[in-house]
Amino acid sequence: MQLTIKVWRQKNNKSKGKFETHQLSNISPDMSFLEMIDVLNIQMIEAGQDPVAFDHDCREGICGTCSMYINGRPHGPHSGITTCLLHMRSFKDGETIVIEPWRSAAFPVLKDLVVDRSSFDRIVAAGGFISVNTGNAQDANSLPINKEDADASFAAAACIGCGACVAACPNGSAMLFTAAKITKLAKLPQGQPERYIRAKSMVQQMDKEGFGACSNHGACEVECPKEITLETIALMNRDYLTASLIENKEG
Ligand code: SF4
Ligand code: FES
Repeated sequence: MQLTIKVWRQKNNKSKGKFETHQLSNISPDMSFLEMIDVLNIQMIEAGQDPVAFDHDCREGICGTCSMYINGRPHGPHSGITTCLLHMRSFKDGETIVIEPWRSAAFPVLKDLVVDRSSFDRIVAAGGFISVNTGNAQDANSLPINKEDADASFAAAACIGCGACVAACPNGSAMLFTAAKITKLAKLPQGQPERYIRAKSMVQQMDKEGFGACSNHGACEVECPKEITLETIALMNRDYLTASLIENKEG
C-alpha cells in the first residue's frame, strides 16, 4: 500500500503544533496501525529526522495507552477496538490518513501524539478503591453475587482508561470513564460501605480536573473500545444524588 500520512507534531505543551506530511510505500495490509507508525519512524530516523512520539505498551487492547484520533475518530474507523488492534487493511491504497493527539484541556499534549492523562489517575485516587477491612480471604461461595450484578461489574471493569470517551465528547466530559470506575465497585458487596462517598469524591475530582459536563450526546459510548454503556452514567448520577441527600440529612 502507498499512503500519505498527515501527523500532528508538537514539541511540548507550550509550543504551537502543526501537521507534517509523509509518504509511505510498501505498507502491508496485514500490519497493525502502530506497526505502520513504526515504519514511518524508521524512515524518519534514517533520514535524520525526529521520530513521531506516540504512546503504546501492550499492543493487545489491554493497557489503553495507544490513544489517538485517526481521520477524526478516536481509535480509528471501527467500533469496539483500540488503535493497536486496527489493521492497515481497513484503509485504501493511496489514502491520506490524518493522525492527531486527543484534544482536551484536561489532557495536555506532552509531545506529538502523547498526552498527559494523569487527570484520570487523580480521579481514581479520589475514591476508586475499597479501603474497608474485609478480613481474611473468604471461600469463593460464601459471598454470593447475583449473575446480573457480576456481569455488570465485570463489563464496567473492562474500561482501560484510554480517554476516547473524553476525546469523542463535544463537551470533553469524563463521565463515562468515571462512571465505569464507580460502577465496577458499586455492583459488588465489597463496594457498598464506601459507595456513596466514593461517587461524590470521584465526581468532585472529575470536575476539578476541568472535564466538561455531560449533555447526553452519547458519542462516548459509540467510540469506547470496551463498549462501556451509558447505564454506568445513570448509576453514577443516582449514587451522587444519594450522597448529597445523605449529607443533607446528616448535616
Ligand atoms: S470508558 Fe471506554 S473510552 Fe472511556 S476511558 Fe474507559 S475504555 Fe476508554
Ligand atoms: S497499546 Fe495497549 S491498548 Fe493499545
